[in-house]
Amino acid sequence: MAGQLVEIWQANASGRYIHKRDQHPAPLDPNFTGVGRCITGPDGSYKFTTIKPGAYPWKNHVNAWRPAHIHFSMFGTEFTQRIVTQMYFPGDQLFPLDPIYQSIVDQDARDRLVANYDHNLTEPEWALGYNWDIVLTGSKRTWTENEALGAAGDEE
Ligand SMILES: [Fe+2]
Repeated sequence: MAGQLVEIWQANASGRYIHKRDQHPAPLDPNFTGVGRCITGPDGSYKFTTIKPGAYPWKNHVNAWRPAHIHFSMFGTEFTQRIVTQMYFPGDQLFPLDPIYQSIVDQDARDRLVANYDHNLTEPEWALGYNWDIVLTGSKRTWTENEALGAAGDEE
């Protein structure tokens, strides 16, 4: 969708959010706010340059760690269409242990939350590139937290 506001928030490389509620004793990064926004282009594409967030503990159960993820929000064409979801990185060892990821029963829907490494997007001496399509409608639509209210618990 063109002209779409996309917002992201995430932990830093140590798995720490800048939010005051995050008292995890990992270091804050004074150069990293963990938030970003952009508007999609005419073809619906978007791009962020960021750091890969670390896993972080969240006390949902003993020794609970969230897989590395980036939170996304899109507003659609009207306020009631706002969707919130999470993007994951391929091959994360924490997927089988994560109640949020596991709360999605359809494996295809889970897979659609995982970005694909794309060497064509990777920039020499700068950053790895990942592709992640967000689908707003239809049978292949991206899982959203709107669908899972009550299942996810209290998570940043
Ligand atoms: Fe999070």
